[in-house]
Amino acid sequence: MPDIESLLKEKRVFKPAKDFSRQANWNKKTAAEYRKLGEKNPERFWAKMAKENVSWFTPWKKTLQWKPPFAKWFVGGKLNVSYNCLDRHLEGENAWRRNKAAIIWEGEPGDSRTLTYGQLHREVCKFANVLKGLGVKKGERVALYMPMVPELAIAMLACTRIGAPHSIVFGGFSAEALRDRINDAGAKVVITSDGGFRRGAPFELKTAVDEACKGAACVEHVVVVKRTGEKTAMKAGRDQWWHELMDGASADCKPAKLDAEHPLFILYTSGTTGSPKGILHTTGGYLTHVTTTAKAIFDLKETDTYWCTADIGWITGHSYVVYGILANGATTFMYEGVPTHPGPDRFWEMIDRWKVTIFYTAPTAIRTFIRLGDEHPKGHDLSSLRLLGSVGEPINPEAWMWYHRVIGNKKCPIVDTWWQTETGGIMITPLPGAVDTKPGSGTLPFPGIHAAILDEEGKDVKPPNGGFLAITHPWPGMLRGIWGDTERYRETYWSKWKNIYFPGDGAHKDKGAYYWIMGRIDDVMNISGHRIGTMEVESAIVSHPDVAEAAVVGRPDEITGTAIVAFVTPKGNVDAGPALADKVRKQVTREIGAIAKPKDIRFTDALPKTRSGKIMRRLLRDIAAGKEGVGDTSTLEDFSVLAKIRESDED
Ligand code: PRX
Repeated sequence: MPDIESLLKEKRVFKPAKDFSRQANWNKKTAAEYRKLGEKNPERFWAKMAKENVSWFTPWKKTLQWKPPFAKWFVGGKLNVSYNCLDRHLEGENAWRRNKAAIIWEGEPGDSRTLTYGQLHREVCKFANVLKGLGVKKGERVALYMPMVPELAIAMLACTRIGAPHSIVFGGFSAEALRDRINDAGAKVVITSDGGFRRGAPFELKTAVDEACKGAACVEHVVVVKRTGEKTAMKAGRDQWWHELMDGASADCKPAKLDAEHPLFILYTSGTTGSPKGILHTTGGYLTHVTTTAKAIFDLKETDTYWCTADIGWITGHSYVVYGILANGATTFMYEGVPTHPGPDRFWEMIDRWKVTIFYTAPTAIRTFIRLGDEHPKGHDLSSLRLLGSVGEPINPEAWMWYHRVIGNKKCPIVDTWWQTETGGIMITPLPGAVDTKPGSGTLPFPGIHAAILDEEGKDVKPPNGGFLAITHPWPGMLRGIWGDTERYRETYWSKWKNIYFPGDGAHKDKGAYYWIMGRIDDVMNISGHRIGTMEVESAIVSHPDVAEAAVVGRPDEITGTAIVAFVTPKGNVDAGPALADKVRKQVTREIGAIAKPKDIRFTDALPKTRSGKIMRRLLRDIAAGKEGVGDTSTLEDFSVLAKIRESDED
């Protein structure tokens, strides 16, 4: 009896184009060599990557020390992340990068700034001295609560320069959420701004910091970046303006020589239960992982303008807006605002104007663009693009095909990258010059990553049956713990099987050994004893030409145990109603089988999402079950959506 039944069948295969493979950082030959080495001896593979891609002040003595569930990578090695992201691009054969753009930034109102590697280095050194001046010492935590402005990257790099772990709290979180995170990390300094721009208007941040600080006695200083110029209260003795502190700061600051296992950052992520977990990442292993994967998967070249649309407040932004990209000496593009301001074509207009070559975004964004209509991307010249990426959730094959056709003009490889806050860097992904892709599959584990599909007992599940995704060997970017809670670390990730990491996702392998992620285990429904991934049903629904987006949850049902409830957003010009519900059910029956046919279909013109774009299935589950109150909504993007869904039409 398989653990999770996989019913989705996708047959299309896309081979890497010859001219792409020929120029790829990792072509077929390199990829095959690395895959072989990584399979046989992951430590040797990662040691080779650490030598090739990262600069060390002192070499390590032991590649991996594994005392389950605690790993140490590159034991005895010393390095500095800001040195790797900045200084080394100003020296020796790379010295020409001094005047290369490190960050190209565009604000939502249309203002822009470019920081060369030379300029960014200077700003980082100055801000590192500001932090020292505020009394921040090696090992002390700094909280960052900022909009997407270059100062956020500057502050991160400055923290790494002096060995002060940062804890970035996404600007969309509430004052309470910020307070809890500040307290949990024991942050001494908070860096924020007066606000930022979103949907054409300024929003405030500093007031939330003031509110949070009322309950956070650990905070001694607050540094405020002036972005919007709106009136901002400053508390004497605690609050200081960024620009005033920077005015007098020295640009001379040596990077601290830090142990490979020195804490680099804490990033909070929600679990299925309890308070957010402070995921801890350290220096040497994390940097090796993100630098190597960025080079191989995004195929970064000197001439690229790389754009990852994630907010830096999430792991994707940490690893692939800032660290992995700058460590490679590449140009990272940053955008402050929403994709639909001033019009639905903002992203495409920017890709055209800045000649972006690599574009990394999330399926939820892709589905939104599909809904907005092809005319928006088609109205711009996107021919600069040469590679596309997807991250954050399973991408349904129809969205993949649209991305391939409409954005990539059928010539860009698509890298569907599976990973987590906890994994630090990408784990399962195509290598764009070497691996055939199938729409909806993350394809294969990255070389040096050992994955498996296991059942409850830890036994391999035979393809093509589904089971639990597992990582069977430690990897350099892995979390080192949950801040302040070793027991929870053990319990959440290492208690299901012995010495094997449990990511909490369901997946299956096809006969070609490709991985297909089926979503979180807690999104898996048990219908009449058959376990079905919500994502597969959603994917089937969204493959109907009249549907823009869908979210599927289970609700208790007397007869079948769980009944499938589908929240469906029709495309703009389509009428919601029984006729469409009928079509949707038929589509699911056709794509998967009658067993997956939704019992309830509720039409709605929007789905409740977090600010990072994840559908809040927990809320939908409560609504589907007819519960009166719903739980924590603090990360909900748009509150009006909930009310509308409650009133939504049932077919
Ligand atoms: O369920 C998987 C899904 O996102 C989860 C991790 O979320 P987070 O820690 O917020 O990090 C997101 C960005 C790395 C995973 O457990 N997920 C992420 N990427 C994919 C994915 N599911 C399917 N395919 C992906 N490419």
